[in-house]
Amino acid sequence: MENFTYKNPTKLIFGKNQLESLKAEIPPFGDKVLLVYGGGSIKKNGLYDKVITALGEINAEVHELAGVEPNPRISTVRKGVELCKVHQIDFVLAVGGGSVIDATKAIVAGAKYKGDPWDLVIKKAPVNEALPFGTVLTLAATGSEANPGSVITNWETKEKYGWGSPLVYPQFSILDPVNTFSVPKNQTVYGMVDMMSHVFESYFHPETHAPLQDRFCESLLLTVIETAPKLLEDLENYEHRSTVLYAGTLALNGSLGVGYNGDWATHNIEHAVSAVYDIPHAGGLAILFPNWMKHVLHENVNRFKQVAVRVFNVDPKGKTDEEAALEGIERLRTFWSSLGAPTRLADYGIDDSQLEIMADKAMSRGDFGQFKVLNREDVLAILRASL
Ligand code: NZQ
Ligand code: ZN
Repeated sequence: MENFTYKNPTKLIFGKNQLESLKAEIPPFGDKVLLVYGGGSIKKNGLYDKVITALGEINAEVHELAGVEPNPRISTVRKGVELCKVHQIDFVLAVGGGSVIDATKAIVAGAKYKGDPWDLVIKKAPVNEALPFGTVLTLAATGSEANPGSVITNWETKEKYGWGSPLVYPQFSILDPVNTFSVPKNQTVYGMVDMMSHVFESYFHPETHAPLQDRFCESLLLTVIETAPKLLEDLENYEHRSTVLYAGTLALNGSLGVGYNGDWATHNIEHAVSAVYDIPHAGGLAILFPNWMKHVLHENVNRFKQVAVRVFNVDPKGKTDEEAALEGIERLRTFWSSLGAPTRLADYGIDDSQLEIMADKAMSRGDFGQFKVLNREDVLAILRASL
């Protein structure tokens, strides 16, 4: 295991009726609040009214940025930065899924930066300061509610990049499973695929000895696999929603990834695909991950065999390590497709016409991946296998 330092300052406030705690959490930061949300789901399910009532009870001066897109755009971030500057906002409250939270992270950093917030995303300028913000999470998926990362799209240049800073950890995140009841089936599936993918990105690393982290990862995968079909049969089941909500946070709050460098190549390739085609992040992951796994299998067949046996119940008797490993990868693909996730880029109408462009975008920051360093040929091979 490598040396590590781990600090996660986000306060998690989990459970029923926790929205009440907004009234204690926000006032220490000030009374001018920017409320950031997405395309209207919080108005339909009544959460918007509850948030406005809570903010009214602490006499907050509330400004709003509505309409954050899935795959949030820098154009919307710029609007939020402008609102913060014009109204001298003290605190930003993100109410939504990963996209709303990611946009908010760029807004709070952009509000303290003189230039264009895109400079922060492309790392042309460092993040030196940020406004404080909190989240009310409405979708279990990204882990953005408890991490310092954000992914922003520039639709004009068709670029989508991850960036981050310890200054953009949320101050607090309210995780009430009830607020995820209205997430439709397809988004619920995407969320579970995303959190499982985050575990895989951690699990496939070059370190030879991290048995405790391995078992944390495996237990998270097993728990999501066991819960997924039950939740999809009963979308308003509090217990299943809680399990998946907490799993999503744990999968990417940094705790699973300590002591080694996770791979993260598949996320990089997916960001290139969704920069060009604007597909749901986890839809892209469900297609790409099994193909990445097959492509890199020979880096460490035993690792794939281990997950096949321990998580996907593959019986290794009478099989070579490679056969057992490949059976595990097929079981993963079958599991995701049994939930309704896509299996081919063609499911989104994507053909081979933009493969080279996607490969160039994936390579824009050079070779990548920790389990296996990928070059442009590797990326093209994975994309071709995904058609
Ligand atoms: O916009 P609204 O109307 O709110 O609808 C959203 C959106 O259409 C809807 N939704 C959210 N909560 C709902 C709900 N619908 C009904 N009831 C609710 N309670 O779901 C749709 C998708 O929302 P979005 O926030 O886009 O989904 P997700 O949380 O999966 O976030 C995806 C974004 O996060 C990035 C992805 O690249 C993508 O841009 N990621 C961020 C990460 C991070 N910051 O750590 C890591 C991830 O790997 C990922 O890359
Ligand atoms: Zn992800």
